[in-house]
Amino acid sequence: MTDPILTLSGISKSFPGVRALHDVSLELYAGQVTALIGENGAGKSTLVKTMTGIYQPDAGEIRVGGKLVTLPTAHSASAVGITAIHQETVLFDELTVAENIYLGHAPTNRFGMIDWKTMRKEARETLDSMAAGIDPDIKLKELGIAKKHLVAVARALSVDAQVVIMDEPTAALSQKEIEELYVLIELLKADGKAILFISHKFDEIYRIADRFTVFRDGEQVGKGMIKETSQSQIVQLMVGRAVENIFPPRNAVIGDVVLEAKGLSHPTEFEDVSFTVRKGEILGFYGLVGAGRSEVMQAVFGMTQTSSGRLVLDGQAIAPQSAADAVEAGIVYVPEERGKQGVITGEPIFKNVSLPSLKKTSKNGFLRMAEEFDLARTYTERLDLRASSLSQNVSTLSGGNQQKVVIAKWLATLPKVIILDEPTKGIDIGSKAAVHEFMGELVAQGLSVIMVSSELPEVLGMSDRIVVMREGRVIDTLDNDGLKPETLVRLAAGIAEEQAA
Ligand SMILES: Nc1ncnc2c1ncn2[C@@H]1O[C@H](COP(=O)(O)OP(=O)(O)OP(=O)(O)O)[C@@H](O)[C@H]1O
Ligand SMILES: [Mg+2]
Repeated sequence: MTDPILTLSGISKSFPGVRALHDVSLELYAGQVTALIGENGAGKSTLVKTMTGIYQPDAGEIRVGGKLVTLPTAHSASAVGITAIHQETVLFDELTVAENIYLGHAPTNRFGMIDWKTMRKEARETLDSMAAGIDPDIKLKELGIAKKHLVAVARALSVDAQVVIMDEPTAALSQKEIEELYVLIELLKADGKAILFISHKFDEIYRIADRFTVFRDGEQVGKGMIKETSQSQIVQLMVGRAVENIFPPRNAVIGDVVLEAKGLSHPTEFEDVSFTVRKGEILGFYGLVGAGRSEVMQAVFGMTQTSSGRLVLDGQAIAPQSAADAVEAGIVYVPEERGKQGVITGEPIFKNVSLPSLKKTSKNGFLRMAEEFDLARTYTERLDLRASSLSQNVSTLSGGNQQKVVIAKWLATLPKVIILDEPTKGIDIGSKAAVHEFMGELVAQGLSVIMVSSELPEVLGMSDRIVVMREGRVIDTLDNDGLKPETLVRLAAGIAEEQAA
C-alpha cells in the first residue's frame, strides 16, 4: 500500500485541567478522505489546531511526505502544504472577500508588493469554480454565515496544499451548497490531495469518506475503512455504548393555544405567515434553507420588525420591539448561529447560563453565586455538557459544548415558548438524543416548543404538527400522523405529487 502523505504520532496536548489529546496517531493518504469522528469535546478541533501551528503539541511528531516538520506559527502550516477550514472561521469582517481569501499568502509583483489585480482575478476564479455566487470585492460582513463559510473554503483552496483539513465544513451550509462542496471534495481527491474531514453527520461521512478514525476523550480508539464498517460499530467506538436513534415518545398533554401569529409579513423576507402553537406542543418548521423560517422566528423574538400582522400570547396582543421585550413576555429564541452570538467569551460557563435569569438568582440586588451555580448545573447536566468545571471559560469549550451552553442559558429563563433553530446542529449523536429527550420533558412540563429543523428525521420524530415554508410563505400545516417524508420534501421544494401510474 502507498505511504501516507501525513503522519501524526504520539501527539499529546493538555490545557489546565483538561487532557485534550493523549498519544494520538493519524495517517492521511493521497486522494482519500479520512473522517475524524468523536463526541463533542473529544479533541478533534484541538488536533486540527496542532496540525496547523495554532497550538503546539506537548509531545509527538508530525511528518509530511516522511519528513519531520515543526509548525511554530499559524503561517508555517501552509509552507509545508497543510491548509484548514476551521470550525469557527477565522475571517475578518472589515476586509473584502478577496483579502480574506489571500490574507498571508497574497500574490505579489516583482517589487514584492501585493498584486491586487491578480489577487482579485484569482479570487474571482476560485469563487466561480465553486459556483459560490460571491463578489470578491465586497466586505465580508455583508455576507451571511453560509457564504462566509464558502469564503473560508475558497481560502483553503487558494493555498496549494497537499493536505486539506475541514472541521465541520457543512454545519453552516445550505443543502445546495453542501452538494457543491461534495463536488469540490471529489475534485480535490482526484487531484491527489489528502483530506481530513470532521463531521457529526453520518450520512455525509458514508457518502464522501474512504477511511475513518475515532477519538474518545482525547484518545484514538479505532480506525478503518468506511466501506467495511457499519454506522453502529462507529457509534459504539465513539461513545463506548450503543445509542439508539429513537426519538422519545410524545406523550405530553396538548392544551390551549399559547402563541398565535396572524398574517406576519416582512418587506423582503416573508409574507402572510400564520401559525399557532399550543401548550405542551412541539411545532416543527420544515423547509429548505432560505425558506424564511429563521427570519420569521427572529421577528417573533423582536429582533426584527414586521410590516404587518400580529402576535397574541396567552390571549394578549404583544409587539416585542427587542429580544429583551420578548424574553420578558416569555418567548426565547435559540439561534442557529450559536457560536459567536450566543456566548460571552471570556466569561465562565455558569455566568453565561445565569445571565438572562439574573432576577431569579439575585436577592436585593446581590448576585448569589451559589444559586447561579445551581441553576447552571441543573441545565448543563441535562444537556450532557462536557467541561472540566462550571468555572471554565466558555471560549475554551469545544464547539458543540458551547452550543449546549446557549441552549441551557435560554431554558433557564423558564419561558412559555422556546424557539429552537436547528437545535442539534453540530451536536454529537449521543448528546443529540439527550437534547431530544430534554425537549420531550419540557413539553411534558407544559412548555411550548417551536423547532426549526432541516433534518427530516428530527422534524418527523419530534413534532406534533409541522408547518412547511417555501419562499417566505407557509405552504401547509400538517398533523404529524403517518406523514411520509416525501410529502414534506415535495411541499418544501414545490414539486407536485407524482401522477398515479
Ligand atoms: N484553549 C483551551 N483551553 C482549555 N481547554 C481547551 C482549550 N481548547 C480546547 N480545550 C478543551 O479540550 C477538549 C477538546 O476540545 P475540542 O475543541 O478539540 O473538541 P471537539 O472534538 O472539536 O468537539 P466538538 O465536536 O464539540 O467541536 C475540550 O474539553 C475543550 O474544553
Ligand atoms: Mg470541534
